Amino acid sequence: MTTVTNTSPTTAHLEAAARRHLWGHFSRHGENITPPIITRGEGARIWDAAGKSYLDGLSGLFVVQAGHGRLELAEAAAKQAEQLAFFPLWSYATPPAIELAERLAGYAPGDLNRVFFTTGGGEAVESAWKLAKQYFKKVGKPGKHKVISRSIAYHGTPQGALAITGIPALKAPFEPLTPGAFRVPNTNIYRAPEPLGSDPKAFGIWAADRIAEAIEFEGPDTVAAVFLEPVQNAGGCFPPPPGYFERVRQICDEYDVLLVSDEVICAFGRIGSMFACDDFGYVPDIITCAKGMTSGYSPIGAMIASDRLFEPFADGTSMFAHGYTFGGHPVSAAVALANLDIFEREGLNAHVAEQAPAFRATLDKLTDLPMVGDVRGEGFFYGIELVKDKTTKESFTDDEAERILHGFLSTALFDAGLYCRADDRGDPVIQLAPPLICGQTEFDEIENILRSVLTEAWTLL
Ligand SMILES: Cc1ncc(COP(=O)(O)O)c(C=O)c1O
Repeated sequence: MTTVTNTSPTTAHLEAAARRHLWGHFSRHGENITPPIITRGEGARIWDAAGKSYLDGLSGLFVVQAGHGRLELAEAAAKQAEQLAFFPLWSYATPPAIELAERLAGYAPGDLNRVFFTTGGGEAVESAWKLAKQYFKKVGKPGKHKVISRSIAYHGTPQGALAITGIPALKAPFEPLTPGAFRVPNTNIYRAPEPLGSDPKAFGIWAADRIAEAIEFEGPDTVAAVFLEPVQNAGGCFPPPPGYFERVRQICDEYDVLLVSDEVICAFGRIGSMFACDDFGYVPDIITCAKGMTSGYSPIGAMIASDRLFEPFADGTSMFAHGYTFGGHPVSAAVALANLDIFEREGLNAHVAEQAPAFRATLDKLTDLPMVGDVRGEGFFYGIELVKDKTTKESFTDDEAERILHGFLSTALFDAGLYCRADDRGDPVIQLAPPLICGQTEFDEIENILRSVLTEAWTLL
């Protein structure tokens, strides 16, 4: 153990202490690896410990919707902490948690009126699976416990949520995981075989029908829920093809399988509405959400369930046997309410809907580069797939991806002033999800930096 007395550490000290003591999440560690230290944010920009500024092209981690440096959100946190810093939702309630539940239910579609708070997204996914299991036990279908999700989709790290996650490399170190999770194809039309690749509607129906096939294969009496993101993040922003969710909803109704819309990234304006199921015209049975609810000024997540799912728990003696000490934390709930006030006052969702075509068009300019195979996404959420050959869509070998993505792109983009994500959980992609306050100036800056760094990356192949 080391004792630290310095109350205002130098950057050199912070770097050394980070290398010695901090364990990064999904991070590589080694003698020559020091994480960049971010000290300040304002609007769409962040600053590191050396005073250099960067455009935050990923809203932290799909979180900082309203932008950095919002004093009123800090004040909302301080005011609530002063009044009542903590009380649990275990048989008690607090005004901010109640008000936030009411507000979220008001934004949610259909009869999704019941809000179960968590501290983040993975816990919301975990809660949704547990609810699906207990619900079906309560309504006399105890065999329904399995879940279906899509290939390469990320749904979080708790062992249930990780079982739902469709990225084998993230799961392998922790197998065996919770049993009962099965995968179907995702909606990556760029890599769909012909003739589906050039017929989005037919591809959408084909992809949705794989869910019906999986339910039939596993046995309808054993399947409880399907977990889908409105736009799938991992793999690089796969939007739903036309007709996809309409068909998925039909399938779920036909087999009495719950449709869980995992909106941990897509909710709160990322696509242009409070809940992205509205952007794609479907009503799920459960929404899971987190990240943007407070724009990151304090952590919180939620599972929003339909009245039908709550009903068996409302008899005065039953309970959903599940909870988190910090779920629905009063400070976070107060911050979420203040954040949603900003959304309303500044019309952030309308801004996204209005600016999304310009963002898309600006990124589309990059398709003249030899390395840019595809630009896809919706709202303020895009993936740029990098390929070795645009005509054949040939991807990089593992070695090349390691060299180009990890060895060059991540650092080079950051050094050039853009914080974004170079991801190879599926085929290699650059991901962009800037704060919802951005406009053409930031879109142009993103395009300029990507253009120069991707041009250089091509020479390294
Ligand atoms: C769709 C989806 N679900 C769940 C999670 C897990 O959320 P958290 O990291 O807050 O646990 C994430 C995180 O990125 C996500 O994108």
